[in-house]
Amino acid sequence: MEQRIVRTTPFPDQQPGTAGLRRKVSVFRQPGYLENFLQAIFDSAPALRGGRIVVGGDGRFFNRDAIQVLLRMAAANGIASVALARSGLLSTPAASLAIAAQDAAGGFILTASHNPAGPDGDWGIKFNVAGGGQASETLTDAIMVRTRTLSEYRIMDNVPDVDIDWPGSVFLGEMRIDVFDPVMLYADRMESIFDFVHIRSAVENGLTLRFDAMNAVTGPYAHEIFVRRLGMSELSLVNATPRDDFGGLHADPHPHTLPDLVRLAASDHAPDLLAASDGDGDRNFIAGPGIIVSPCDSLAVITANAHLIRGYRDGITGVARSMPTSRAVDRVAAKIGIPCYETPTGWRYFCNLLETGHITLCGEESFGTSSNHCREKDGLWAVLCWLDLLASTGLGVREILSRHWNEYGRTFFVRNDYAIADGTVARSVMQGLRESLGGLPGRSIAGREVLSADEFAYDDPVDGSHSAHQGLRVNLAGDARIVYRLSGTDSSGATLRIYLEDHTDDHSRFGEDAAHTLAMLAEAARDLARITPMTGLSAPTLVI
Ligand code: G1P
Ligand code: ZN
Repeated sequence: MEQRIVRTTPFPDQQPGTAGLRRKVSVFRQPGYLENFLQAIFDSAPALRGGRIVVGGDGRFFNRDAIQVLLRMAAANGIASVALARSGLLSTPAASLAIAAQDAAGGFILTASHNPAGPDGDWGIKFNVAGGGQASETLTDAIMVRTRTLSEYRIMDNVPDVDIDWPGSVFLGEMRIDVFDPVMLYADRMESIFDFVHIRSAVENGLTLRFDAMNAVTGPYAHEIFVRRLGMSELSLVNATPRDDFGGLHADPHPHTLPDLVRLAASDHAPDLLAASDGDGDRNFIAGPGIIVSPCDSLAVITANAHLIRGYRDGITGVARSMPTSRAVDRVAAKIGIPCYETPTGWRYFCNLLETGHITLCGEESFGTSSNHCREKDGLWAVLCWLDLLASTGLGVREILSRHWNEYGRTFFVRNDYAIADGTVARSVMQGLRESLGGLPGRSIAGREVLSADEFAYDDPVDGSHSAHQGLRVNLAGDARIVYRLSGTDSSGATLRIYLEDHTDDHSRFGEDAAHTLAMLAEAARDLARITPMTGLSAPTLVI
């Protein structure tokens, strides 16, 4: 075994987004590509030297090869020890928990989240810092700058592959590798938050669940929690064996990707709760018999009922939502007298607020919800919240929602995505809108007066950092709103997201279909942005 320093030339496209670096598997397989990015991380995070790191990922194709490269480079870069998830299977929330529990200096999460997996799919890598939180913008920028200037990487040569499938410890040079079982760590944490005894007895009394792990990482976690600890039938789980291509599924849980679950929810033999999580286990989908829960409502309901969940019964300090997420939760926060923070899109903005106790709960419209138990969104945690609420109230999903709307009114929410092939065109759509904002107040859009229009910027109350250009907001009379922003996670082209929201206190309207209710506003929003003349698209490519 020897340490080798390999000369390399930078890859100019290695710009990590908020969710790490995501590219096609074929791109990562270019000689030196993965190694360059890893070396940029080791160089930009000097605290790793002499420290412990956590390693694992969502089980997708190329993870097992990448883990061997990462271990050999970690050893050559002076890492003292590695906590390696058994078989490399580590969900993103479990990674966050493990980094904190292992007192690690950071963690490498090998995931491209819900992006397609397999040899022709995507691969990705995300670096989380001590405490389990997402890397700051300063750090991801530093990594990007480093990828452009580095000229060599360090790696151990002539070493056999490490066996990653058996718990135990081995050495690679002077670096110790501890293969551990993250499922137990995660399930124990969930059992400390939720009253498993109570949920188990509700299950014995007939409470039923269908959970779709989408052939991705949450299968083993779901099995341990729902089957082994909560006594549910194996038939409660579908697609629960992780596969390296996610079985060809698009493992992003929302109504369009889960036709079987949606059909079951609409049938007369629907279980009490229907749920799913994405490739790396951080997103969640929640439905009940005859009803799909909007993630914005889910955050509001969990906030309003948090005192019923053991882990939060002493109260919650505050709540946060990403800016485009509907303001349903703001109403709850106002009523119970806690602060509600509005942050830019991306989980990293919640981390400081969670770390300093400003908030206990947070969520995004993009099917992400979580609490201060970790520093990532957490799919199974959200499912357990709903299961716990069903068990403790004895109500169904529909009744819980109706009760909530009766108290707070209903906030309709829908997102329209326009996939624009040419990123330059997408940016000029946004620029056109930006320039027109000043002239909007007083005008009428879809029969509503524009009250204000601005570009969202965020000043972090904890570290004072300023984030500009975080989306355009158009506030309309009657608590309606249009938000425009460009996706930051595209691997090609650009996605323009339009978020539409309206509110009613009229009980007779609570049963309406959100997309239908917001259709006129959606068309007006499209026309205001001049999408059809500028892109040729007359309808959204995706409505969620
Ligand atoms: C999307 C979601 C955002 C989420 C991110 C990572 O980002 O909208 O809420 O934090 O994925 O899961 P976007 O593509 O909109 O930038
Ligand atoms: Zn994810």
